Amino acid sequence: MKILITGANGQLGREIQKQLKGRDVEVIPTDVQDLDITDVLAVNKFFEEKRPEVVINCAAHTAVDKCEEQYDLAYKINAIGPKNLAAAAYNVGAEIVQISTDYVFDGEAKSPICEFDEENPQSAYGKTKLEGEKFVKALNPKYYIVRTAWLYGDGNNFVKTMISLGKNHDELKVVHDQVGTPTSTVDLARVVLKLVDEKNYGTFHCTCKGVCSWYDFAVEIFRLTGIDVKVNPCTTEEFPRPAKRPKYSVLRNYMLELTTGDITRDWKESLKEYIELLQK
Ligand SMILES: NC(=O)c1ccc[n+]([C@@H]2O[C@H](COP(=O)([O-])OP(=O)(O)OC[C@H]3O[C@@H](n4cnc5c(N)ncnc54)[C@H](OP(=O)(O)O)[C@@H]3O)[C@@H](O)[C@H]2O)c1
Repeated sequence: MKILITGANGQLGREIQKQLKGRDVEVIPTDVQDLDITDVLAVNKFFEEKRPEVVINCAAHTAVDKCEEQYDLAYKINAIGPKNLAAAAYNVGAEIVQISTDYVFDGEAKSPICEFDEENPQSAYGKTKLEGEKFVKALNPKYYIVRTAWLYGDGNNFVKTMISLGKNHDELKVVHDQVGTPTSTVDLARVVLKLVDEKNYGTFHCTCKGVCSWYDFAVEIFRLTGIDVKVNPCTTEEFPRPAKRPKYSVLRNYMLELTTGDITRDWKESLKEYIELLQK
């Protein structure tokens, strides 16, 4: 099997490559310098020449606040990019995996959000990612849309930011009124590859298990790393950001539960493994 990975230098792209090592597949890793997913002609030419059987789109404009002021760029990367890939994949008979986000919801739910709940994005990032999902569904019936949240892996992320801040401060303020589920790229990549192996098409939520606030997440990071810093809970209002954050972002992996089985781990278990890896 020939698998094209776009955004291969990002957190998830790196983990997917790692998990594909040793498998009997040909992997074509690309990032923006090899294949700019917003360039329709380049994408069509690339697919015609390389003829992948699966494309896993890990490319995105993930800087949530920057997306607010870079609306056009966010649409190009998060919506037009998946459109180009879905259509080019269709033309060569390939499947597409599109990674999406909890930001497609408004954060007002009172219980874990499942795949059948209605989207209502409140930020440029969320809106553009939802348009990406729609293009993929409309242009290629062989799609896997996998929504995740609070992702960390080999790249820049909240865990690394906290570790670096914690080493240089005695006290930190972290928001306590937004809840979700930290998710390791290891768990997400395992699920993505399992869906592809089983040809289990459709829209899936995929986060680790459990619920916490960013404050709880930070406290656990410092507990596991042994960094001595006082963490003070604060409200979203005390920490204003350009993009609106969902208050309640707990996704339920309902489609995984109903079909292939939910192989994700508890968020604390995955975080422990990640921090042990960072400390090696
Ligand atoms: N990170 C999270 O907390 C989170 C949460 C929910 C969902 N997700 C979704 O999960 C997926 C993976 O996220 P991630 O954290 O692994 O992302 P990431 O680390 O930011 O990686 C994204 C990659 O895409 C590349 N890219 C940007 N524009 C491109 C273009 N036009 N053509 C080709 N590649 C391009 C980036 O390159 P440059 O770095 O050079 O721009 C980067 O290497 C994304 O779909 C994201 O929306 C992430």
